[in-house]
Amino acid sequence: MSDLVLAVTGASGSAYAVRLLDVLLSAGRRVHLVVSPAGLQVLRHELGLSIDASQFAVSQLLPERQGATANELVTLHDHRDFSAGIASGSFRTGGMVICPCSMGTLASVAHGLSMNLIQRAADVHLKERRKLIVVPRETPLGSIQLENMKRLADAGAVILPAMPGFYHNPQSLGDLVDFVVARICDQLNVPHELARRWGDTQLDE
Ligand SMILES: Cc1cc2nc3c(=O)[nH]c(=O)nc-3n(C[C@H](O)[C@H](O)[C@H](O)COP(=O)(O)O)c2cc1C
Repeated sequence: MSDLVLAVTGASGSAYAVRLLDVLLSAGRRVHLVVSPAGLQVLRHELGLSIDASQFAVSQLLPERQGATANELVTLHDHRDFSAGIASGSFRTGGMVICPCSMGTLASVAHGLSMNLIQRAADVHLKERRKLIVVPRETPLGSIQLENMKRLADAGAVILPAMPGFYHNPQSLGDLVDFVVARICDQLNVPHELARRWGDTQLDE
C-alpha cells in the first residue's frame, strides 16, 4: 500500500482531519502529515489543545493511539522542510489530501506558488497527475475563491467541500464528520464502514 499525504491548513474543521488520520491509520496506511502554522492554531482552538509547534506530536491528536502504531505509520514533516521526500515527484505516493483547506492554501496551490511544503507537495501531485483532494471550508464563497476552485479542478484536483449531507439521518456531530471523511476515503480507495451509502437497504426503508 502506497504512502498518503495529509496536509492540515488553517480552515475550520480540525475534526475532519483528526478523524481522517485515525481512519487511515486503522486501514494500515502510512501517512505523511504536514500542519501549517494556521492549521495548528485552529487545531488548538477547536480541539482545546495547548501545544506549540515545537511540541506537536501525533499522540496529541490521537491520544488513544499512543505508542507504536501511530509513530510507525505517521511521518510528521515541518511545513518549511522542502527537503522532505514529498516535495519531490520522484517520491511515490498514493495521493494527497488537504483537509481542511484554507482559502489561502487553495489560492496558492491554484497558482503554483509552492511557498511551503504543503503547497509544494500539492503542486507535485498535480504535475505528476496523482490524486489531489482538496477539502475547502468557507462560506459564503466569493468569485476569487470559486475561480481558484475551478482552476484547481481543471488542473486535475478533486474539490471535495466539507459539506456533509443529511440524508443518512445523522445523530451526532461525529456522524456529520464521518460523512465527509467517508467521501474522502472513497476518493483514496481506502475501505471503510463510516457511513451507510445511498442504496443500502436500511436507507431505503
Ligand atoms: C479559528 C480560525 C478559523 C479559521 N477558519 C477559516 C476557514 O474556515 N476558512 C479559511 O479559508 N480560513 C480560515 N481561517 C483563516 C486562515 O487560517 C488564514 O487565512 C491563514 O493564513 C491560512 O494559512 P494556511 O493556508 O497556511 O493554513 C481561520 C483562522 C482561524 C484562527
